[in-house]
Amino acid sequence: MRRYENRVVLITGSGQGLGRAMARRFAAEGALLALCDVNEAAVKETAAECDGARPSVVDVADARQVGEWIEETLSAFGRVDVLVNNAGVIRDNRVERMSDDEWNIVIDVSLRGMFHCVRAVFPQMKQQGYGRILSFSSMSGRGNFGQANYAAAKAGVVGMARTIALEGAPHGVTSNAIAPGLIDTPMLASMNAAARAKLAGRVPMRRIGDPADIAEAAAYLCSEAAGYVTGVVLDVDGGISIGSALR
Ligand SMILES: NC(=O)c1ccc[n+]([C@@H]2O[C@H](COP(=O)([O-])OP(=O)(O)OC[C@H]3O[C@@H](n4cnc5c(N)ncnc54)[C@H](O)[C@@H]3O)[C@@H](O)[C@H]2O)c1
Repeated sequence: MRRYENRVVLITGSGQGLGRAMARRFAAEGALLALCDVNEAAVKETAAECDGARPSVVDVADARQVGEWIEETLSAFGRVDVLVNNAGVIRDNRVERMSDDEWNIVIDVSLRGMFHCVRAVFPQMKQQGYGRILSFSSMSGRGNFGQANYAAAKAGVVGMARTIALEGAPHGVTSNAIAPGLIDTPMLASMNAAARAKLAGRVPMRRIGDPADIAEAAAYLCSEAAGYVTGVVLDVDGGISIGSALR
C-alpha cells in the first residue's frame, strides 16, 4: 500500500525503537518524513534508510527548538499532515526515592513535549482542514509499580489526546493514542531485567511485541481512511491489559 504518497509525516524520537520502525513503515508507503531526536547520529541513521527524509536534532521539551523544527519543516515541505508524538523516556524509582530530576524529565519529554509539538502544528493542520495526530501512551498509564512519573505522563497523554480530538474535530484533525504493552526496543532492554521477565510472562500472546506491530497500528490510525476515528486509545499489547493472569 502507498497510503502516504505526498503526505508530510513528523515523528519525534525517531532515532531508534518505535520511532525508527514507524519511520521505515511510513517511508515504505511513500511519506515525506521530518524526523527528530536528541541523538543526532541516531536520527541521521534512520533518515538514511528513508528516501527524502529530513533529520533534525530537537529536544521536544524545549518549545523554541520545536517551533523552529516545525517552521523549517513547513518551509521544506509546505504542509504537515501527520504528527507522531513518540519521544519518551523512563526514569523508574519508588516514589519515596524519586528525585525531582527523575520526575521532571519524564513529564517534560512525554507530556510537555507532546504539548509543544501539537501547539506548533495545530494552526497549519486547521488551515489545511486536514491532520492526523498520534501520541504515545503506555499500558503503564493505568499505573505501574516504580513508575509514578511515567504513569502520570502517560495518563496525561490520554487526557490531552482526547481533548485535542475535540478541538480538532471540526477542522478535519484527528487525535488518537497508542498504548503499547511490552515491545522489543532499547527502552525495554533498559528496564530492570527481573521486572521485564515477570511482565513478559503475563502476555496472553506469549511473546514480546515487535516494533512492526506498533508501526502497523500507527500506519492505520494516521491514514486518510481513519478520518472518523478520533479520541481513541488503542492498546497494542498482545492482550496484557485485558487484566486476568489466569490461563
Ligand atoms: N518499548 C515499549 O515497550 C513501550 C511500551 C509502552 C510505551 N512506549 C512508548 O513508546 C515511545 C517509544 O518508545 P521506545 O521503546 O521506542 O523508546 P526508545 O528509548 O527506544 O526510543 C526513544 C527515542 O526518543 C528519543 N528522545 C528521548 N528524549 C527526547 C527528547 N527530549 N526529544 C526528542 N527525542 C527524544 C531518544 O533519543 C530515542 O531515540 C515512548 O513514548 C515510550 O514511552 C514504549
